[in-house]
Amino acid sequence: MTIQRPTHVEIDLTALGHNYQMVRQQLPTECDVLAVVKADAYGHGAVAVAKVLQQLGANLLGVAIAEEGGELRDSGIEMPILMLGGFWPGQEDLILRQNLQVTVFETEQLQRLEKAASRAGCRCHCHLKIDTGMGRLGVLPANLDEILAQFQSSDTLVLDGVMTHLAVADSENHPYTDQQLKLFLKCVQRVRDAGFSPRYIHAANSAAMFSKVTDGCNLVRPGIALYGGQPFSDHALALRPVMSFRTKIAHLKTLPVGCGVSYGLHFTTERPSIIAAIPVGYADGYNRLLSNGGTALVRGQRVAVAGTVCMDWTLLDVTDIDSVCAGDEVTLLGCDGDECVSAQQWAEQIGTISYEVFCQISKRVPRYYKTEAAANDHA
Ligand SMILES: Cc1ncc(COP(=O)(O)O)c(C=O)c1O
Repeated sequence: MTIQRPTHVEIDLTALGHNYQMVRQQLPTECDVLAVVKADAYGHGAVAVAKVLQQLGANLLGVAIAEEGGELRDSGIEMPILMLGGFWPGQEDLILRQNLQVTVFETEQLQRLEKAASRAGCRCHCHLKIDTGMGRLGVLPANLDEILAQFQSSDTLVLDGVMTHLAVADSENHPYTDQQLKLFLKCVQRVRDAGFSPRYIHAANSAAMFSKVTDGCNLVRPGIALYGGQPFSDHALALRPVMSFRTKIAHLKTLPVGCGVSYGLHFTTERPSIIAAIPVGYADGYNRLLSNGGTALVRGQRVAVAGTVCMDWTLLDVTDIDSVCAGDEVTLLGCDGDECVSAQQWAEQIGTISYEVFCQISKRVPRYYKTEAAANDHA
């Protein structure tokens, strides 16, 4: 067995299952779930997460790019996969070969897919994205007819879904969301009037589906909620965090009053201090903005980052931890006893959102997967 650096991420697949069931319980039975596993399942590991979601009964998976879809197919995932972010010229054959569904919003994309599908003698399953006010991807309602005409004249392009994306769903009861949904449902009616019966109509991310703004839709696209991130900033849902980020104390030293610590000497000991060096740094995704501000857990107690976070090392002031030892476990994200560092807390400290906290934990950090049963077996 290879001995590894102790810095690692634990992914609790039982918590993922709990969150999936919470999502499912929000929905009417006729509403399907597209589980968003883009960006390596928000840093949780797309293949492992997708396998669990497949078993739990998710109906589709959502990736951002063709490469992510290809990774899932190569690992044996056979369920429908929708590429949420369009595609690049030249990727058409790959998309068809991997049987990926495609988000489309430009006539030129349809031309390329049509040609590739005709060459391959197959059909291409598309979800038409309408920009109802996000100002990002999507055909504007004014240009909808042109794109529908292209579907009408094609034997190979199948209009499987019509979708939009909401800009402020995380603010509950926002009138802008109502406005977007009204416009979206009008566009859906235009699609139906043009003779199409798309299987899926979808708009809601995690926040929108927990606000129940899914009228007229039969598919939701949760991401962050599956991973236990809170969709709303002003109240918490009973979601369970899936990711914990842990390491161990590598080296301890006792410093007298007045010693500078780490690059730039931005921390000075104000009392005789015990400083712990932990083998994690910004190259692992422990953001440099946590310098002199981040907190971690040692022996179930909260300790503070001392000085600047380095590329591979971070220093903690562990003076107040009784009997602290090299080798003690350090929790950077997740719980130790009754204390927890949540992704939201971490995100607030560095002025970002939990999504970025999860995604920025780098590939260098191995992910270990556990289920409650396995954890109990181990105990
Ligand atoms: C088009 C689309 N749908 C759904 C989601 C999932 O959103 P959330 O993670 O907020 O549930 C995303 C994520 O960014 C997205 O881009």
